Amino acid sequence: DWTPFAFIESTIEDLQKTLGSDKVVLAISGGVDSSVAALLLHKAIGPQLHCIFVDNGLLRKNEFGDVLDSYKHMGLNIRGIDAKERFYSALSGISDPELKRKAIGRVFIEVFDDAAHEIKDVRWLAQGTIYPDVIESVSVKGPSATIKSHHNVGGLPDFMKLKVVEPLKSLFKDEVREVGRSLGLDPSILERHPFPGPGLAIRILGEVSPEKVRILQEADAIYINILKETGWYHKVWQAGTIFLPVQAVGVMGDERTYEHVVALRAVESMDGMTADWSHLPYELLARVSNEIINNVKGINRVVYDISSKPPATIEWE
Ligand code: XMP
Repeated sequence: DWTPFAFIESTIEDLQKTLGSDKVVLAISGGVDSSVAALLLHKAIGPQLHCIFVDNGLLRKNEFGDVLDSYKHMGLNIRGIDAKERFYSALSGISDPELKRKAIGRVFIEVFDDAAHEIKDVRWLAQGTIYPDVIESVSVKGPSATIKSHHNVGGLPDFMKLKVVEPLKSLFKDEVREVGRSLGLDPSILERHPFPGPGLAIRILGEVSPEKVRILQEADAIYINILKETGWYHKVWQAGTIFLPVQAVGVMGDERTYEHVVALRAVESMDGMTADWSHLPYELLARVSNEIINNVKGINRVVYDISSKPPATIEWE
């Protein structure tokens, strides 16, 4: 039978055997997977692990600073890199979802490669890939399917010349969480919803701009805080806000407005492969809508997504 303790013990032993005294570099995203991978590697090889956390300008509000702080508390050897402008300029003029993913993946690798080169004699690249990532990216290559290219799987450019180690490759999300809990991972990271690598770029339909990111971050923070306050954050698998590429007419005082629309998404799921939309209480939705429209300039309408996967997907892009 699978237990987190047995998994941790045998994985640490394997990692020590495989890695010896080699240096390893790991990109941390703020999510559960890369954090658990980091803690496991930290247990196995301590300061030989070098973590890099890139601010791509597509994270949630305040996420970069908050997450960097919590990693430092865990004793990880971590470097934060502000690369917002590089990502924004690579995304400028691009509306197609897959082209956005490609641009983000490319810039991420450039930024990461620059940072990794500064670590002398690094031999290994660690990744927090989990089992469902492996399956979905295999199906991307299948003859019939063009699902989404998960840029965190494969696609490593030759110039990096690093060997890859993926300690969580056989685990499902709930198992990753159990391992994290057993390793003492901070609950704020442990219970964090999955968040896509391309971040808010695929929750802004159409072209991304720093201004749209800012508006979406504000609206999303209101939604997520209310979910947390009401205990709903932990009841849903994933929630987020989507910035729609349309404007709608509204009225504010005596003025006609013509502003943007955001959609709220919340789903229940076991593993992200299938999902049902969450039946959030009307009162909660009403409060989120009022707070967003009253506080976030540029938004005058909020809608709720009632689509399940399949045939919809969790993300809109
Ligand atoms: P979909 O939208 O395909 O999402 O139903 C399933 C799960 O995968 C996440 N997702 C991504 N994660 N890079 C990622 O790292 C991506 O490009 C990507 N696209 C979707 C999504 O948030 C959900 O948890």
